Amino acid sequence: MDTDKPIIIGCDHAAFELKEKIKTYLMDRGYRVEDAGTKSDVSVNYVDFGKKVAAAVSKNEYSRGILLCGTGLGMSMVANRFAHVRAALCSDIFAAKMSRLHNDANILVLGGRVVGDILAFEIVQTWLDTEFEGGRHLERIQSIDI
Ligand code: RB5
Repeated sequence: MDTDKPIIIGCDHAAFELKEKIKTYLMDRGYRVEDAGTKSDVSVNYVDFGKKVAAAVSKNEYSRGILLCGTGLGMSMVANRFAHVRAALCSDIFAAKMSRLHNDANILVLGGRVVGDILAFEIVQTWLDTEFEGGRHLERIQSIDI
């Protein structure tokens, strides 16, 4: 992955704990992480944080983002409204890998009430380590934006 830019991460209250753990996991491994909030488990609207992260990735201020909410569904809906954003909700390693290989996903979405910590770390690591295959998939992803 492009290591020039930090990874931007955002969540709502339902996934605050998992976001903190993922941040620590990443920073312990030398990744730079920009935390877009939320910064506590006080109830918030996931949309505000999803928009912050998706807008930054959409403008290419960051090349990779991670979003988390309770299910991951709301964050996916928000993020995928932004041009050039390809947000992938992943609850397993296969989806994480394929979202990079075929879809060049630039935002990983996780459900804090769906996946446990260890699986989440594995998903994040796989997603960061897997490069886009390009080729026939490039034309396909280029035709997503309307
Ligand atoms: C919050 O209760 C929950 O609705 C939110 O985290 C998310 O799952 C929305 O899609």
